[in-house]
Order: sequence, then structure tokens, then C-alpha cells
Amino acid sequence: MSEFQPLWDEAAEIWDANTEEPSFRGYVSADYRAVYESLVLLQGHARTFLEWGSGLGVVSIMASRMGFEAYGIEAEAELVEYARLLSRAYQADAKFAAGNFMPEDFEWNPARGHEISRTVMDSGSGYAELDMELRDFDLIYAYPWPEEHDLYQNIIQDCGRPGSLLLSYDAQEGINLVRIQSAG
Ligand SMILES: C[S@@+](CC[C@H](N)C(=O)[O-])C[C@H]1O[C@@H](n2cnc3c(N)ncnc32)[C@H](O)[C@@H]1O
Repeated sequence: MSEFQPLWDEAAEIWDANTEEPSFRGYVSADYRAVYESLVLLQGHARTFLEWGSGLGVVSIMASRMGFEAYGIEAEAELVEYARLLSRAYQADAKFAAGNFMPEDFEWNPARGHEISRTVMDSGSGYAELDMELRDFDLIYAYPWPEEHDLYQNIIQDCGRPGSLLLSYDAQEGINLVRIQSAG
């Protein structure tokens, strides 16, 4: 059994109890075990970690416990509160901000195939609260909707650090890891 099983179970219970709540409307949890196994392989290859759309914070909490300097940005303030409670309960040092993970200087462009299905576009940037910028992160983790994968890569290409890693989860495709080169 994984050391994180109690965390995964508690997060599942919170989700079960809140499925009808508006703040959980865009929330679906990834396969935590699959993400955990990817993080194990990335230990030593990245120091700073950011979870885009951190939900209940489970992945950031695991990353923190595994030695990454871990942060999460989540649009729904209620989910951020749960994430902070879980981080304390599981002795992690993950830091969470309520806001948008999309950097303010990112130019959304439908001509580049930037489709949006569930990504929230209307909340203020979450980076200032963390006192960090996207380019400060070595490793970004996200669970985009299927048609949003290109958008997520483009955000890091345009606003992140060349050479940073994007780890993503997809319900059909599973885990994917790409090293992002700059757009220019
Ligand atoms: C599919 S869930 C993934 C939850 C968690 N990261 C995981 O992998 O289990 C996506 C989360 O992203 C949040 N979200 C959507 N758009 C966002 C945005 N622009 N900025 C921050 N959070 C966002 C949603 O509220 C939701 O909690």
C-alpha cells in the first residue's frame, strides 16, 4: 500500500460528499497512483513544481512530501481551503493560491488552435499570491480536458522557462511528459 493511500482516500471522500457543490463543477481527480509513479521518476530532475488547477491539492501535497518545492493554483477558493487543510493534515509544505494559472501576459489565440472547454478564464492570476512566475518552475503538472492539451503546452512555450517539463494526465491517454522548448 502506498504511503499516500490515506490522503487519496480522504480526497475521494471529500469529492463524494461535494459532487453537487458549484465549486466542484470543474473538478475531476486524476489517477493519483499513476501521477505519483511519474513523480518518483522525476525526483532529482526538477526542484520547483506547480500544479495547474490543483483542486484538492493531492498532487502538490505528494510532490511536497517527495522533496519538490511544491505550489498549486486553483480557480475555486473553496477547493484551495480544502487543499490547505489536507496539506497541514499530511505534514506537507505545499503552498496554494486561489486564482488563474494562465499568466496575464499569455495571448490566447484561436488561430493557434487554443480551444477552451472547462478551463476557467475569468479569475485573476494566482502567481502574485505565490510570489512566483511561471518561468520559476521546472515542472508543471496539469489535468487538461482532451482538447486543451495544445493550449497548455503553448502557455508554457510562450511564458514559461525553455526546457521546463509539462507532466499531464488524461483520462484516456494516461500520463504524458514533454520538455517544452521556447516558441521562438
Ligand atoms: C480536472 S481537475 C484536476 C484536479 C487535480 N489537479 C488532479 O489532477 O486531480 C481541474 C481543476 O482545475 C481548476 N481550474 C480550471 N481552470 C482553471 C484556471 N484557469 N486556473 C486555475 N484553476 C483552474 C478546476 O476548478 C479544477 O479544480
